[in-house]
Amino acid sequence: EADLEHKLPLKGKKILITAGPTYEAIDPVRFIGNHSSGKMGFDIAQSAANLGASVVLVAGPTHLKTENHLVKVVPVISAQEMYDACHQYFANVDVAIAAAAVADYKPKNVSIQKIKKGADEFSIELEKTKDILASLGEIKTNQFLIGFALETENEIDNAKSKIQKKKLDLIVLNSLQDEGAGFGKPTNKITFIDKNFSVEQMDLKSKEAVADDILNKVVAHFAK
Ligand code: CTP
Ligand code: CA
Repeated sequence: EADLEHKLPLKGKKILITAGPTYEAIDPVRFIGNHSSGKMGFDIAQSAANLGASVVLVAGPTHLKTENHLVKVVPVISAQEMYDACHQYFANVDVAIAAAAVADYKPKNVSIQKIKKGADEFSIELEKTKDILASLGEIKTNQFLIGFALETENEIDNAKSKIQKKKLDLIVLNSLQDEGAGFGKPTNKITFIDKNFSVEQMDLKSKEAVADDILNKVVAHFAK
């Protein structure tokens, strides 16, 4: 049994993970989205399941699939649906990891009919979506809360302020400065920053290996 605990250190733990983009409807045939593939979140789900955790994977639109019996996929489309799904599961989990690329803005009004082509110029009024991760930070009790940050300037300082704003235990800063890292790529270069602002830079590696690094942080948290 001690051996099983060693191999499956997250057995009995429940982990909520968000993944993929969100699509914000403009009209019945159009949306605002982004290029997130969902791969980072799916890889994190796989790593967590490999360590024995039961995973709820709230996933925006993606072609990715998982067959693992420890991973329950909850498919959503919009930021509001992702918010609702996360709040349905959060009270019951030990860890939440927000890897989704949630739209920051959505159309204020969604046209019921397909919008017809007309004037030479056309604009859509947008309003903020809810910040899912910040809302989980507000209500967290014992959950270990991990967020991501994508920055193009003042990376470390901006990531630190996200830790405080969203009440995170750990943030995974994605470096876009590296050619091999990020959206649509099989690799990622990350920096961990914890709630005490200790900074740990990692090498460029596959998203699977990055996912394992993230889960190692979760294991270390419960080993304390
Ligand atoms: N996030 C979220 N809900 C949102 C926006 C972001 O849960 N509506 C989460 C992301 O999943 C990520 C973290 O918040 O874990 C940071 O996302 P990011 O886009 O880097 O930061 P924002 O707070 O949206 O700020 P900005 O885009 O202006 O840098
Ligand atoms: Ca954002």
